[in-house]
Amino acid sequence: MRQVYPISRSEFLRMGGLGGAALVGGPLLAACTSVVQSTAEKTGEVPATGAQVDLSLRLRVTTSEAQILPGALTQVWRYQGEVLAGDAQALQAIPGSYLGPVLRVKQGQRLRVELVNEVNEQTIVHWHGLHVPSEMDGHPKDAIGPGQTYTYEFTVRNRAGTYWFHPHPHTLTGPQVYRGLAGLLLVTDEEEQALGLPSGEYDVPLVLQDRTLDADNQFVYLPNGMMDRMMGFLGERILVNGQPDFTLTVERRPYRLRVLNGSNARVYKLGWEDGAPLTVIATDGGLLERPVERPYVTLGPAERAELWVDFSTFEAESERRLVSLEWAGSTAGMGGMMGGGMGGMMGGGFDSNPIPDGAAFPVLTVRLGQGVATPGQPPTRLASLERLQESGSVNADNPRRWRLGMSRMTWTINGRTFEMEGVARDEIVKLGTQETWLFDNTGSGGGMGMMGGGMMQMAHPMHVHGVQFQVLGRSVARGAERVWESVSQGFVDEGWKDTVLVLPGEQVRVTMRFEDYPGLFLNHCHNLEHEDQGMMRNYRIDE
Ligand code: C2O
Ligand code: CU
Ligand code: CU
Repeated sequence: MRQVYPISRSEFLRMGGLGGAALVGGPLLAACTSVVQSTAEKTGEVPATGAQVDLSLRLRVTTSEAQILPGALTQVWRYQGEVLAGDAQALQAIPGSYLGPVLRVKQGQRLRVELVNEVNEQTIVHWHGLHVPSEMDGHPKDAIGPGQTYTYEFTVRNRAGTYWFHPHPHTLTGPQVYRGLAGLLLVTDEEEQALGLPSGEYDVPLVLQDRTLDADNQFVYLPNGMMDRMMGFLGERILVNGQPDFTLTVERRPYRLRVLNGSNARVYKLGWEDGAPLTVIATDGGLLERPVERPYVTLGPAERAELWVDFSTFEAESERRLVSLEWAGSTAGMGGMMGGGMGGMMGGGFDSNPIPDGAAFPVLTVRLGQGVATPGQPPTRLASLERLQESGSVNADNPRRWRLGMSRMTWTINGRTFEMEGVARDEIVKLGTQETWLFDNTGSGGGMGMMGGGMMQMAHPMHVHGVQFQVLGRSVARGAERVWESVSQGFVDEGWKDTVLVLPGEQVRVTMRFEDYPGLFLNHCHNLEHEDQGMMRNYRIDE
C-alpha cells in the first residue's frame, strides 16, 4: 500500500524537468523566462466571446525538486507560471516555496490561462471559490492527459479575497495536491483598495499542510493504506508554504495574514500559544463587514481565514508561536482509534507516526524585529456585505438536505458516490433562484463493522463549486456536544463561505444564489481522501 510520490528521478529527467536550482525558491519570473518545453500541441477551443483578455497566463504542471529538509531534495510537482500578456506582477513566487505561484487579479479582469500538462497522469485545475462558467471550473470530466492543454477564459467576478487553485482529476486530487500542486489566487477590488490594509511584504500568504517524509526525504502518501483513505491523510510534520519549522520574521506593525488550510484532511484550531485572541477580517469569500475577534480560529481543509495582527503589541525581539490547540478530534464513535499507532495494524510497511487528529502542535513561530513599534487599528468597517435572508430561498421551509454518511466502507452524500456525468433528480437547481441547503452529519455511519460495531461519524468540510454561500445556522445532536464545543468558538460564519466544516452530529444550514452560469458543478467533501473515494456529487443549474 505504500506509495511514494512523485515519480522517479530518472523519469523526472526524461520528462525534461528544468534544473533543480532554477526551480527551488528564486524569483518566479526569472525561472519562467525559460522556453516552454511543452509537448502539447493540442490547444483547447476557447469560445469566441470577443471579450478582451486583460491577463494571459501559462500554467505548466511539472515535476520538480525542493529543499524541504536538510540533505536530499524532495521530488515534488509544481505549477510553473508565466505571464504571456498583461501585468507581469500578476504572478508572484512565495519565497523559498514550491507551492504557488500566487496569482493576483482584480475584480472585472478577463483572465486567460493555458494549462499545460507535463506530468505523467491526467490533471485539471479548479479555481476554488471562483464564480466561473461550468466549463471553466475544472470539473473532473475536463481532465487532460499528459502532453495536453486546457485553455480557460473567464471574467473575475468575485469580491476581494483569498481564493486558491488546485488539481481536480477524479481519484487523483489527493495525491496531486499532496505532491505540491496548490496556489493562492488573490482577488482585489476597489472597495478593498480604499481600505489601505497592510500590503506588499506586510500581506503574507500562509499555506498550512501536513506531510510525511521518508528517510530519503521523499513524500509518503497514505502510508497506512486503507485507514488513511477512510479517515483522510494525516502527516507527521506541518509545512507552512512548503517549509518545515516555519519562522515568520516581522516588523512591529500591523500585518495581514492570509491563512489557507491546504491540508488534505487535517483540521486546525489556530491560536496564539499565550491565548491572545485573533482578529479575523475575511473568510473564504472575502472581507467581512467588520473585523471579528475569536479566541482561536477553526479551519477545515480548504477553508481560508485572513487575520489582521498588530505585531507592535509584541515585545521587540521576542518570539511567539501560532499553534493548533488541542480539541476533541474530528471523529466520533471510534473510541480514540485515530491516534498514531494504526500503521502497524492497517498499513503497508511504512511506520508512520502522524500528529494525531485533535492533538496540540506548533504551526509557526513569529520572530519580532527590534525596530520601533508602529501600532495600527484595522478599519472598523471593511466591506459592504449583502446578507441573504432565509426567506428569500425558494425552499426555506424545506431545505435541500445532503445526508453525509457511509455505506459499504465508503463515504457518501445521500447514500451516493460520484458519477462523472451523473445528476440525480434531487441534485438539480434552478438558475436565478436562492436555495437553502442542509448539510446533515447526524446519520449513523453504519457499515463500519470492522471498527467494532456501532456508528462512526467524522467531520466533513463540505464545499460547493460555482457559488459562495452564507451560513444560516448550526445545530448539534444530543451526545455530540463534546467535539462541537471543543472547536465551535472558532467558526467564523459572518461572511461568504465556499467550504464549511460539518462536525460529527452537526447540521449546518447555508443559503446561496445560483446566478449567471448554468451547467454542471460539484458539491463535495474537501477531505481529499474522501473526495477521491467518491464523497462528491454533481449538481446541475438548469435555466
Ligand atoms: Cu477545492 Cu472541488 O475543490
Ligand atoms: Cu472548489
Ligand atoms: Cu468527508
